[in-house]
Parts: sequence; structure tokens; C-alpha cells
Amino acid sequence: MIILLTGVAGFIGFHAANRFLSEGHEVIGVDNLNDYYDVSLKQARLAELQRHENFEFHKVDISDHVALDAAASGKAITHILHLAAQAGVRYSLDNPHAYVQANVMGHLNILEFARHSGTVEHIAYASSSSVYGDREDGPFKETDKVRSPASLYAATKLSGEMLAESYQRLYGIAQTGLRFFTVYGPWGRPDMAYFIFTDKIFKGEPITLFAPEEMRRDFTYVDDIVDVLPKILATPPGSGHEIYNLGNSKPNTLMQLVDAVEVACGQTAEKIVLGKQKGDVSNTFADVSAAERDFGFNPKMELGEGLRRFVEWYREFYALEKL
Ligand SMILES: NC(=O)c1ccc[n+]([C@@H]2O[C@H](COP(=O)([O-])OP(=O)(O)OC[C@H]3O[C@@H](n4cnc5c(N)ncnc54)[C@H](O)[C@@H]3O)[C@@H](O)[C@H]2O)c1
Repeated sequence: MIILLTGVAGFIGFHAANRFLSEGHEVIGVDNLNDYYDVSLKQARLAELQRHENFEFHKVDISDHVALDAAASGKAITHILHLAAQAGVRYSLDNPHAYVQANVMGHLNILEFARHSGTVEHIAYASSSSVYGDREDGPFKETDKVRSPASLYAATKLSGEMLAESYQRLYGIAQTGLRFFTVYGPWGRPDMAYFIFTDKIFKGEPITLFAPEEMRRDFTYVDDIVDVLPKILATPPGSGHEIYNLGNSKPNTLMQLVDAVEVACGQTAEKIVLGKQKGDVSNTFADVSAAERDFGFNPKMELGEGLRRFVEWYREFYALEKL
């Protein structure tokens, strides 16, 4: 496959690119390297990817269709893994335009590129568990009604699914939407709770917990996701457009996360407890039977072991061996 991979300097993009490159595929990576979180972490991920001969990188903002077309045209791209997005729920309260720009305009530009390319056979794109809204029940199924996004982030991800559906119907572009559930692991995202807790614990600072009694997340280890991506990308859906949950299907409470991070760090944290944040959902819980049936998706990683691997990476990356 010749793959256009957007958001390649991001957490999941980095791991996915590594996997595709190791399997001998060509990856044309794009990312705007924005400063939503530490740019040097994005650059370090890119430096790892640049060891592969079959990798090329273009610093491009996907909301700029002229720049995107200039980077991607004429390369006979056969597949697109579209992961670039403005992520995070809380940031969307203060930076709404960034979400529509990257997640709606950017997604449209990817679809337009595919439409006019004449070579793209299949697009797999990142959606999110957040499209299910604020629900107490579970597990969430792909066939559930999703019309109540609790944040602007969720609204833009749902919009992405709608754009994809319309382009499949209008132009026959085969697409697969991937609803990721709280993905974590080495090289992870510094804005996510497990990363923030680890940071604070090693700095000896207190951690802040928002509504810990109420919060449950279906934490999913990044390798469990990446293991299934080659099969998904290589398989355009017969129906034209399908959406799959990719989660662990075993939710943990926020307090279980804190306990596991403390064990992985070998230290306990001082805790400040606050109420629920605007836009947050209480619960995520994936039914993954469709991905299991169609791709053999079988997430295996236990939270404690996954966090142990994350903390091991964290210590090495930030040179904390002696702590
Ligand atoms: N990590 C999770 O738990 C999770 C859960 C649900 C959905 N997702 C989705 O999965 C995808 C990947 O997430 P991630 O965790 O790797 O996030 P990430 O922030 O680490 O990666 C996204 C990358 O996209 C890039 N980007 C953002 N806007 C861009 C633009 N306009 N043009 C070009 N590049 C741009 C960023 O610089 C970043 O490197 C995203 O679409 C996200 O919404 C992630």
C-alpha cells in the first residue's frame, strides 16, 4: 500500500506509521506539528519514523487544501489513514475554531483529495467514543443512536462520520470509521489523564481528579489498536462505509486508573478532588463484537501492565532512570 497518513507525528499516527513501515508499505506522512502539546515530543516521534527509507514527511495543515494537494498529489496514494485532528474535550471550550478547522474542514479536504486522486481505494479515519454522548449504560454499539454530543469535539467527530457517509454515497469512496476509546501507551499524549498523573507524581505535585466516583473509561492499549489497523486498511467495506468501535470493552474507574499509575510509578500522589468538568462524559464502554467478527480484533492488554510499559517509556524518554 502507498499510504497517506495524516497526524503522523501524533500518538496513534506514530505507532500506526511504525507498523505500516515495518510491514514494507510506503507512508507519506503529514502533520502540522501544532503546539496543542509539547512539539518536541512530536518531533521525537518523527525522528524515529525517519529511520525508515519508505517514509516521507510533509509539514502540512490539512485545513489548507492547496498545501495538502501539493504534498500528496502525483504519488499514486492507494490508501489513506486519516488521524489528524484537534483532540481533547476540555480545550474545545476555549478554542472552538481549532476543532471545526481541523476536524471538519480538514476532513473535507481529505475527502476531496481522495475524490480527485483517481488512485485512492480506501480511507480509514479516526472517529471517537465521544460520539456516544454522556451515557451511564453500556456497552455502546455502533448501531446505537448517536445524536447527543456532549462537547464540540464530539460534535466535530460526528460531523466527520457524516461527511464520510455523504462522500461514499456521492462518489463511491470506500471508507471505514474507527471509534477509538481512550487509547494510551508509550509515546502517549501529554494532555491525557494517565500522562498528567505520571508527570505530577514524578514532580511531587498533587493530582486533580474530576468526579472520580462517577468516571469510568474503557482504556485501550495502543498496540491492541495498531495490531488490527493493517487488516482494516487493506479491507474496503463491501457496503462502502462502515464504522467500528475499537475499545478494550473492560472499563475501569478513574480511581482504578490512579491506583495503577501509582503502582507503575512506585509512588503515591496527593489528590485534589473537584466536580465534573463541562463537556466530559461519565462513562465509555465499547461493544467490539463487530471488529472482532470482521477483523479478529482482540484487545489483550491489562491496564496495570499497559501503564507499566508507559511509565517505563516515560522514564527513559525524560531521562528519569535514577528516580
Ligand atoms: N488517543 C485517544 O484516546 C483517542 C480517542 C478517540 C479518538 N481519537 C482520535 O484519534 C486520532 C489520533 O489521536 P491521537 O491521540 O494520536 O492525537 P494526537 O493529538 O497525538 O495526534 C493528532 C495529530 O494531528 C496533528 N494535527 C492536528 N490538526 C492538524 C491539522 N489541521 N493539519 C495537520 N495535522 C494536524 C497534530 O499535530 C497531532 O500530531 C484523532 O483523530 C483523535 O481525535 C483519539
